[in-house]
Amino acid sequence: MKTKIILSKITEKPTVAVVLGSGLGDFADTLENAVAIKYTDIPHFPASTVKGHAGRLVIGKKAGKVVVAMQGRFHFYEGHHMQTVTFAMRVMHAIGADDVIVTNAAGGLNPKFKVGSLMLMTDHINFMGTNPLIGPNDEELGPRFPAIQGIYNKGLIEEAEKVGKEIGAPVEKGVYIAVTGPSYETGAELRAFRVLGADAVGMSTVPEVIVAAHCGVKRVLGISLITNIATGESETKATHAEVVEAADKAKVYFIKLVETMIGRM
Ligand code: HPA
Repeated sequence: MKTKIILSKITEKPTVAVVLGSGLGDFADTLENAVAIKYTDIPHFPASTVKGHAGRLVIGKKAGKVVVAMQGRFHFYEGHHMQTVTFAMRVMHAIGADDVIVTNAAGGLNPKFKVGSLMLMTDHINFMGTNPLIGPNDEELGPRFPAIQGIYNKGLIEEAEKVGKEIGAPVEKGVYIAVTGPSYETGAELRAFRVLGADAVGMSTVPEVIVAAHCGVKRVLGISLITNIATGESETKATHAEVVEAADKAKVYFIKLVETMIGRM
């Protein structure tokens, strides 16, 4: 993978990549001595279209580590190909990131969860009906049939639980199920997902994690910010405004958790 353009703009290679979900992009603004590269200035990068997504790679220091953060991601529901949705993950790994923190906004299926809970992803269910690795396989990028079991690193989950306690953040654990969106789920769908073993539902992250496993990322930590209750037991409908507002309120804990984890990776 060609990485010259990005590497020519930075002095140190990042070791940790952070993918920022809806409303969580502010984290990238807290990186020190940061260099921001607009997606539109990187060859082959598409433009991100969702409101509240800035659309740039920000490389800078945090807790003593060099970090590359994706401020704004590509969603399948925007009409992008899966290869496009996951391209940045390959780029971030190619420029040095062996550890990845993926984050998202998600609906809470588990009745224990509250708006603002931070769910550490223990596993995922790919319910998108497709896979970013479909098509010819480039052996230089990764194997045809990559194993992804255990990709959510147990050690990092344990550490993040500890950090959650230290900083008083409402940390939970659970399984994330990915759907394409963009329509939110029906009550019947939400109840079905619960039966399948999922604790939170969202429209991202799983393609990027599959590609992270494919390209050889060593450790993945996934954090879902629960922005709305989605148990399917009431008639309350999810709205995008509610998702963005909840993300905004929980940001302080979120940023503290991510920051502390970076220091311990
Ligand atoms: N469903 C799907 N995606 C989401 C939700 C939801 O309820 N909330 C935030 N992202």
